[in-house]
Amino acid sequence: MTPNGIDFAASGGMPTGRFTNGRTIADIIGGLLAAVPGPEHHRRLDTERRELRVGRRGDPERDGQNLREPIGMDLQVDYFNITRKQLDDLLGRDRAREFLRKKAIFSVTIGSNDFLNNYLMPVLSVGTRVSESPDGFIDDLISHLRDQLTRLHTLDARKFVVANVGPLGCIPYQKTINRVDENECVKLPNQLAQQYNARLRDMLAELNAELPGARFCLANVYDLVLELITNYPKYGFQTAAMACCGNGGAYDGLVPCGPTSSMCDARDKYVFWDPYHPSEAANVLLAKYIVDGDSKYISPMNLRKLYSL
Ligand SMILES: *[C@@H]1O[C@H](CO)[C@@H](O)[C@H](O)[C@H]1NC(C)=O
Repeated sequence: MTPNGIDFAASGGMPTGRFTNGRTIADIIGGLLAAVPGPEHHRRLDTERRELRVGRRGDPERDGQNLREPIGMDLQVDYFNITRKQLDDLLGRDRAREFLRKKAIFSVTIGSNDFLNNYLMPVLSVGTRVSESPDGFIDDLISHLRDQLTRLHTLDARKFVVANVGPLGCIPYQKTINRVDENECVKLPNQLAQQYNARLRDMLAELNAELPGARFCLANVYDLVLELITNYPKYGFQTAAMACCGNGGAYDGLVPCGPTSSMCDARDKYVFWDPYHPSEAANVLLAKYIVDGDSKYISPMNLRKLYSL
């Protein structure tokens, strides 16, 4: 939906399914690591690019609220299974395997919507919230993700970058509905994110030990985004609280970005493009840390190193 993609050169400023004004983190990482063909070319291979969410329980009443209907991860791995066969046909089995194991990097960014559109939904998720402890909810998400990552490994995926969940309590949507001060974040969403992230870190360490040849890198998006939000003037931003595109409340965080939204003038001066997602300017900084940063932000190695192996 417009004006998403307004700064995305490859589409002439038209929306492409990316929920930001320009490039996503994955787009930028691709450009930093190698001279790759344009994004449309490898879109079919990069089934992880689009906004993901564990297809948890498939509850149609609750899933895909907030006007988005992201494709669940199970289905994305199904799609990759089909792409995998096409690669066999194209390159031959041996070369396809070699290519996937040595060259391909699988980017998995998942989880935020499970919290935002299920567990933290003010009214709809009350049933979930009272009947299920955060521990049980997080257990389900982690075990589901573990299964899907393992499936990818059986399909010859070896190099992964898995992003943890950002500081959900600091996004304009949460700050708006909970009416916190400009420099404050909402506590519960951040606690849930940190709890989930600790489990994710342990699970990836287990997979690194258990799955032959697997290299899972954890991108610490939580601390990265928090760094941008805390020190936003240092990075040239004017605000880390307001959404550039959106409406409602103190931070324009109530109504998602769409054709009738108000939009800021200086899109590169906002950490947040819309009530939920970082701007391209923020994504550029995040991508740089993930590619060349140290172990606080990307571990056990950065993507520059992962790519070279
Ligand atoms: C991929 O698809 C085939 C059927 O075409 C199926 O037998 C296999 O289990 C699938 N692999 C994964 C990892 O889903």
